Parts: sequence; C-alpha cells; structure tokens
Amino acid sequence: MRILEFPKNFLWGSSTASYQVEGGIENNDWAAAARLGKVPVAGSAANHYNLYDADFKLAKSLGHNSHRISIEWSRIEPEEGKFDLDEIDHYRRVLKSMHENGLKPMVTLWHFTLPEWFAKKGGFNHPDSPEIFARYCFYVVNNLHEYNDHWDSINEPMVWLSNGNLVGKWPPFKKSLWTTINAFYNLVSAHNLAYAQIKKRFPNLSFGVVKHNIWFTSDKMPWNIIRAKCADWFWNKIFLRRLKNNFDHLGLNYYFHSQYGKKIQFPKSDFGWDLDAEGLYHCLKGLKKYNKPVYVTEAGLSDEFDTNRAWYIEDLVKWSHQALEDGVMLKGFSYWSFVDNFEWAEGYKQKFGLIDLDFKTKERIPRKSAFFYKNICESNVLEIK
Ligand code: BGC
Repeated sequence: MRILEFPKNFLWGSSTASYQVEGGIENNDWAAAARLGKVPVAGSAANHYNLYDADFKLAKSLGHNSHRISIEWSRIEPEEGKFDLDEIDHYRRVLKSMHENGLKPMVTLWHFTLPEWFAKKGGFNHPDSPEIFARYCFYVVNNLHEYNDHWDSINEPMVWLSNGNLVGKWPPFKKSLWTTINAFYNLVSAHNLAYAQIKKRFPNLSFGVVKHNIWFTSDKMPWNIIRAKCADWFWNKIFLRRLKNNFDHLGLNYYFHSQYGKKIQFPKSDFGWDLDAEGLYHCLKGLKKYNKPVYVTEAGLSDEFDTNRAWYIEDLVKWSHQALEDGVMLKGFSYWSFVDNFEWAEGYKQKFGLIDLDFKTKERIPRKSAFFYKNICESNVLEIK
C-alpha cells in the first residue's frame, strides 16, 4: 500500500458557480437567451441562493475545508453603474456562513454570465469593457474583502471565448474570429486593470485567474506533434502570458486529454469525455514555471450513477500529489461540482455533483463517492492499495 500525504493546511473542497446553482437569476445574457429558446432554462437551479447555509453545513459534514463560489455580476450591478447593496449583503452572509462552517472561501468574480445591459452594449467587445469589468471587480472586493482574501477575476477565458465567440453555441452566439480576438485582448486588459486597482488598495489579498487547460498529446507523426504543440501554445499559454505576472496564484480547471493522431482509449464520463487523470498532472506541471501557488479549482466528471466518480477522484488526487512531489506549489483541490447543477448548453442532463439533487424538491443526497472523497479530505491522505 502507498500512503500519499498532503501538506498541512491543504484545501479540500468543491466548486459551484452562481448561475449554475443559485436559481432565480433573470437579468443576465444566459437568462435572456433562454427566454428566446436558444439555451436551456436554468430556473430555480439548486436554489443555493436560499439554501447556502445548509449546503455549507453539508459540505463541512463531508469533510471539506474550503469552497469555491462565484458572484453573479447581474445581481451586483443590475443596471450600468448602479450597484445593489442588498446583494452585497447577501454575499456577505454567504461568506460569513462559509467561515462559520469551517470552509475557506475562494471566490470567482465572473463565471461566464454577463449582466444583460453589458451584453446588450457588446460585452467584452465594447472598447470600455476592461474599465467596466474592473469597476465591478473593485466594487465587490472593496465591499467584501474582510470576508475573503482569495479572489479570481475570470473563469476560463478561453472556454468562454471559443464557445461564445468562435463556435457560437453560447451567448453572445458569435462565430467570428475578429470578435474573438478583440474580446481576447479586452479580457486580458480587464484582468490586468482589475488586478492593478485591487492590489493597489488591498496589497495583501491574493488575486488570480482560473484557467481551463488541456493536456495535448499526439502519436509519432510529425504533423500531429506540431498540432499538439500549437494547441498547447494557443489554449494553455497565450492568455497567461499576456497577464505578465499580474496574478498572485493560479486556478486550474482540468477536464480533457486531447490526442492528435492515433488515440489511446479511456473510460468515458456520461458526457463522453475521456477519463484520464494523468492530464491533470501535466497541466499542473505546465503551470510550474509561473512560480505561483496553484489551486485545482475544478476537476470532475458527469456520472449520474456514480460508477466512475470514486476511482476517478482517487486518480486525480494521486496525480495532484505527484505534481506536488515534482515541485508544483499546489495548495488545494476542489472537485467540480458540489451538487448537480445547470450544465450550460446541456441544461440539467449532466450530473457532476458529489451530491445528487432532486430538482423538484431540492433534496440533496450525497452520492457514495462523496464519502470516498470525505475520507481523503478528513485524513489529508490518499491510501492506494
Ligand atoms: C466550467 C463549469 C462547467 C464544468 C463542466 C468548466 O469548464 O467552469 O462551469 O460546469 O466545466 O463542464
């Protein structure tokens, strides 16, 4: 048997995002698109907006010591330049409840959904978008910094750019290279500006960004080797390079091993995604050169009947440990997701949760794998037979 011990104070938890779990959000681009029948309706989701305290108690009972959420921009700034202090109070209660339940918060300021007014004026294609975004970020951090010292600006810039601007299956439903490139540069500026403003006022808090990275490999064909290298450069590197070290930590979301040429077969999630946890190790290693603390902010799978979740978590944790041994400053692991939720264009079909959700009654029932994960979280150790 091998015993893999994690450092003291390692963070173990799970992640969610506002629109995917809160429920009752009507004032953003996704809700507007749902009203037009272009994407599924999120509706009341997991009603986490009202049930957050019970959810955090449940997370604590499952051994977690941290929890990642996102703030819903359309709640905080429902109209351009008008900020809602009641919603700030709401998130203050949310953060307080996390602390009371022994969970260290990690907060993402923007996880895919844009306020309707901002989307209408062009979103991240508007020339003022960096200033508008930084103003929102500063407002939130300025009001909530006493309750949280770990912030991320953007969740998965490349995923948002490609699904929404290049492939056109998410809002703003654009299929344009120019739009994508323009929004890319605005996102870079938006992060850099938010970082500068926030760090000037709050030098001690940790401000980062969450990147979705993919492990690209190929067979031995030279053309495929080149394709894998280009994909790695494009998807994993160009955004972070442009941030020019304007981050205190990095969040990594890992889901894919992408192969060019002859493919190795892996077990699949309900989504049809390959379950290959080794890729997490390679993506973590890829971030080592930035020499900053790294958090696995998301890794997980959709698995309604919970047949693969436990062994896949075991593999993910094993490869995370390997990355630690190889010098990555890994500080935490957050499973995606805490509870079944609104999976974007897929609606409620995909079940990523450690916890099974009855969407009608909102009853939460932890899956068996949640207890497997609990053992790891509580002992801070992975035992491999
Ligand atoms: C996103 C989540 C999403 C998950 C599973 C990540 O790319 O941050 O919002 O639910 O993947 O698809």
